Amino acid sequence: MSVLNGKKILLGISGGIAAYKTASLVRLFIKAGAHVQVVMTPASKDFVTPLTLSTLSKNPVHSTFYNNDEENEKWNNHVELALWADLMIIAPATANTLSKMVNGNCDNLLIATYLSAKCPVYFAPAMDLDMYKHPSTIASFEALQQFGNTIIPAESGELASGLSGEGRMAEPESIISFLEADLESRLPLKGKKILITAGPTYEAIDPVRFIGNHSSGKMGYDIAVSAANLGASVILVSGPTNCTVQSSLIEVIPVVSAEEMYKACHEYYADVDVAIAAAAVADYRPKIMASQKIKKAAEEFTIELEKTKDILASLGAIKKKQFLIGFALETENEIENAKLKIQKKNLDLIVLNSLQDIGAGFGKPTNKVTFIDKFFNIEPMDLKSKEAVADDILNKVIAFFYE
Ligand code: CTP
Repeated sequence: MSVLNGKKILLGISGGIAAYKTASLVRLFIKAGAHVQVVMTPASKDFVTPLTLSTLSKNPVHSTFYNNDEENEKWNNHVELALWADLMIIAPATANTLSKMVNGNCDNLLIATYLSAKCPVYFAPAMDLDMYKHPSTIASFEALQQFGNTIIPAESGELASGLSGEGRMAEPESIISFLEADLESRLPLKGKKILITAGPTYEAIDPVRFIGNHSSGKMGYDIAVSAANLGASVILVSGPTNCTVQSSLIEVIPVVSAEEMYKACHEYYADVDVAIAAAAVADYRPKIMASQKIKKAAEEFTIELEKTKDILASLGAIKKKQFLIGFALETENEIENAKLKIQKKNLDLIVLNSLQDIGAGFGKPTNKVTFIDKFFNIEPMDLKSKEAVADDILNKVIAFFYE
């Protein structure tokens, strides 16, 4: 999935021949799953029509401070537009627009919006080769980069003037690749490795029967997706579930029993920065697994159980640099029991589920959790989707690295 998926992109178009390429650019943004709004300078409308761009972006195109159309007379709020955006890109950025951006020369909606933007701003210059090399253009590039804006350099090739050289706006595909690479490098968990356990474990009674539980695995999978969206590489050790995930950043290690999960976790643990145990591991397993299917004979039948290894506690016992997060599912004395688990398992944070909360627990799309950290700070959260709970958990991870 592209890092642009779900991003709100504000595309500013200024008046150069390369403006015709913005139709393809908008299409590629939409294809990547982004939401797009377009703001145009008056001159750019000679090169590409607002109708084309509004059709492709599925949004009205903005170009003046107010709409003349009587039925729909409305001031175009440049501040609202700028604050809506997760990122702004000015493409093509002509020498004139670049100079106005540097000097705050705010005589059109595009510049007013640019000056109001708090998000990352990119600009893709397009002009003739001599204009591109002119000291005033170079000074604009330098000033804008000093403001924190990012240049998407022009490419070399045939120019509209008939001359050949540097100044052609980067092709839409190159702009997309540039933005994806740049946004990925800014992700807060880029370079971090996270081990996550998910789902139930099955403990075999005989070749066809097992002891298991109703865990769907959704919480652990949502945490994995949220971590990957923040740039982390994820090892997802998963018990048997119907959940699936598609991400180049998530490696799924399928396991069945608690013993297999234990081994997989210990294989990767030394190398990770964070471990999150969201699996519902069986606490007991049959002492002996029958090698053949057990036939029904006696009226009563007893299976002797033995404890499985506590994976989370074993990770806590050898913890070095890792930020270790566990879950606790409690039905009574929730806070006290969770605090004991923090100590017993040497955790940094526990995510407490209380079965007394409506909407929390196995097989539900929502969860209501309370965070308790190792200093026993308690933070009850609202009932949320499991995806939103996953984001909250990852915010705790980000806070660990940056606060
Ligand atoms: N856990 C684990 N290995 C086990 C059992 C539990 O890694 N064999 C982890 C779970 O993934 C969860 C945490 O430990 O993150 C808490 O599990 P929970 O079942 O609530 O607690 P237990 O320690 O098993 O204690 P109890 O069942 O008595 O509440």
